[in-house]
Amino acid sequence: MHENAYAHLKTRLAATPRTWLITGVAGFIGSNLLEALLRLDQRVVGLDNFSTGHRRNLCEVEALVPPRQWANFQFIEGDIRNPEHCRNAMLFRAPARAGTAAGLHPVDFVLHQAALGSVPRSLEDPVSTHSVNITGFLNMLVAARDAQVKTFVYAASSSTYGDHPGLPKVEDLIGKPLSPYAVTKYANELYADVFHRCYGVHAVGLRYFNVFGPRQDPNGAYAAVIPKWIAALLRHEAVCINGDGETSRDFCYVANAVQVNLLAATSEHRESASQVYNVAVGDRTTLTTLFELLRDGLLPYGVAAGTQPVYRGFRAGDVRHSQADISKAQSLLGYQPTHRIRDGLAEAMRWYVQRQQALKA
Ligand SMILES: NC(=O)c1ccc[n+]([C@@H]2O[C@H](COP(=O)([O-])OP(=O)(O)OC[C@H]3O[C@@H](n4cnc5c(N)ncnc54)[C@H](O)[C@@H]3O)[C@@H](O)[C@H]2O)c1
Repeated sequence: MHENAYAHLKTRLAATPRTWLITGVAGFIGSNLLEALLRLDQRVVGLDNFSTGHRRNLCEVEALVPPRQWANFQFIEGDIRNPEHCRNAMLFRAPARAGTAAGLHPVDFVLHQAALGSVPRSLEDPVSTHSVNITGFLNMLVAARDAQVKTFVYAASSSTYGDHPGLPKVEDLIGKPLSPYAVTKYANELYADVFHRCYGVHAVGLRYFNVFGPRQDPNGAYAAVIPKWIAALLRHEAVCINGDGETSRDFCYVANAVQVNLLAATSEHRESASQVYNVAVGDRTTLTTLFELLRDGLLPYGVAAGTQPVYRGFRAGDVRHSQADISKAQSLLGYQPTHRIRDGLAEAMRWYVQRQQALKA
């Protein structure tokens, strides 16, 4: 494995641009993938139906990259529950530009992020979660098989560990799912494995562990804990902790998740094919510690030093502790996390503060 596999990969990609499809491109992780790929001069097709993602995320990426890189992005508003939309997304249609003819570029790599996230959402509406996360996933897998893409990387989830008590979590040891959402993410892994065995599709699952960072939605009933708490602290509202605060998670900054996606898609090592990988840092932070890190980090923005959280009942479907063993992604893909929780929180808080200032202006 190359000593700094990611730096090496970025140099290779920039020298030889490839064609990528990102589903869920208007969402949190999808828009961060888009930004990273456009900055490397890649061609990107994006598919999204804006059910939980936002056009403003795409506008933000447009503002962050030079126009010549933004011109390498094609957006399709569509739904993965529609097989035709999935098929259409497998081709980048390059318009004629000064000095270059129009052309068609088949997608090389799929980064499938589109899904309905959130355990509580799946408990309230298991049918919608099933149709997007399983039927939609299957449609994407069929379209990727038929288009003969090189690699189909998909967003799996740490929720697949379910009730298995082992810590840290190792890819081969899973328990029973604790929510409909976890069932859908496990079903994705089963389908991916079968498509590899039956059709030779090279599919790689990334079990994300509580990813956070810029553009993660702080609003709505199903917002994730970090953006929700930052927004509440900045508004001087109460922060509620489900349970006794000792529940713990392996919080993973989005740049780490982006890195694993690119490494997994392009890996040429045979043993890394059609596997699932933990995507995390390998640390464990309790909810009370997370609260303190956020409160203290936001002191310069008017949050009072004595602010305390409100503890309430445990939430159904939640896993008590979560921490990843990341050695598989490290050894097979060359993954090296660039951000531990404090580095990631500093960047995320900066983004949310700027966003709040922009909204006020
Ligand atoms: N954020 C995390 O901590 C985390 C953890 C584990 C797994 N995941 C998985 O990672 C992926 C991305 O999550 P995220 O946090 O960016 O969520 P997100 O809600 O910000 O992004 C999901 C995107 O998918 C789009 N989408 C949903 N249904 C669609 C459909 N039927 N057709 C087309 N597009 C559709 C949404 O509009 C949204 O833009 C999801 O598959 C999620 O289950 C995320």
